[in-house]
Amino acid sequence: MNNDNTFPMKEKNIIYFDNAATTFKPNRVIKKILDYYENYSANSHRGDYDISFKVDDMIDYTRDNVKKFINAKRKEEIIFTKNTTDSLNMIVFGFFLKYLKSGDEVILSSSEHASNILPWLVLSTKKNIKIVFVDSIHEKLNINDLVNKITDKTKVISLAHITNVSGDKRDIKKICELAHSKNILVVVDGAQSVPHIKVDVQKLDIDFLAFSAHKMCGPTGVGILYGKYELLNEMIPFEYGGGMNLNYDENSLKLLDIPYRFEAGTLDIASIIGFGESIDFLNEIGFQNIEKKEKELKKYLISKLEEIPYIKIYNKNCEGSTIIINIDGILSGDLGLYLNSKKICVRSGKHCAKMGDNKEDTVRISLYFYNTYEEIDYLVNVLKNKEEIEKFSK
Ligand code: ALA
Repeated sequence: MNNDNTFPMKEKNIIYFDNAATTFKPNRVIKKILDYYENYSANSHRGDYDISFKVDDMIDYTRDNVKKFINAKRKEEIIFTKNTTDSLNMIVFGFFLKYLKSGDEVILSSSEHASNILPWLVLSTKKNIKIVFVDSIHEKLNINDLVNKITDKTKVISLAHITNVSGDKRDIKKICELAHSKNILVVVDGAQSVPHIKVDVQKLDIDFLAFSAHKMCGPTGVGILYGKYELLNEMIPFEYGGGMNLNYDENSLKLLDIPYRFEAGTLDIASIIGFGESIDFLNEIGFQNIEKKEKELKKYLISKLEEIPYIKIYNKNCEGSTIIINIDGILSGDLGLYLNSKKICVRSGKHCAKMGDNKEDTVRISLYFYNTYEEIDYLVNVLKNKEEIEKFSK
């Protein structure tokens, strides 16, 4: 297979700064997917023939790759889902619906993505569970507030490792230590961290981790649910069907072991195979290089934006690769559309993180390692033309 590391989307006449939403895919990932469709397009676990065996091997390769990538102890701890949202829903309704008892408390932060708030709120309507929010709006999680909000009823803390709006990076190791000393489980939304920094689930001692392939140069349609083996063994599937049962009759159902009991039906085989390749790609670049490049790009972007007096930057102190800005008197949606008119892709609004009344809409510039200084220069020059922006937004 030809390891073509170029990105076809980088050849288009656009500048892409919406990497927190999804990332570009390198040719080698696209070719890997095409190779499956063109050369061994079969289902997994179902055929007694070579191309189906090959599919099994490729799925196994990706599972093993993910295991090593996040340093899980066992391959069985890696479950293929649709995306981070799917993984979080499985954790909430497959595990915590059974685990939590009436009166128990769940701690979240107010700057979580909707996918790490809505499932818990729905859970709290099914059971008498209290959801407690820690302060953090547009900036850093207030760790003292988190400590103060822990009671003897707290059973789980669920937080983004890095938030999708301000890029607040939480000290997950410290939070896990604190939580585990009080028998509290920790769920980590890794959608915005796993693509950008080395996440070692054993070192951090994370109980559950959710993330998506498409935010790390992989295809859409695949997410990962990592859970400690003993916890996943207690989790209940909420999808039933082919590929997850051992045997059944009218009166009994015996499920396969983990992870298969959570993977009912045909998986997104092509995307799982593509994901294996995107992990190889990221490994070859190395997280040290990815982190270094993103830090440098972000520093450069901030220094350039600071030259423009009317740009408000909200999150200079956060570690993630997002910068959120506004221009006084211009609606963030208008600024987003203005940038689009200049072929620059950003996201504006509340970015699926609407909790809290006083959250402003913002324009989010989210970087990935393949962005360039030239792209930043172009963006900054466009932003310097206040008169034209104001005309556009009228
Ligand atoms: N969660 C993605 C974002 O922040 C879609 O844009």
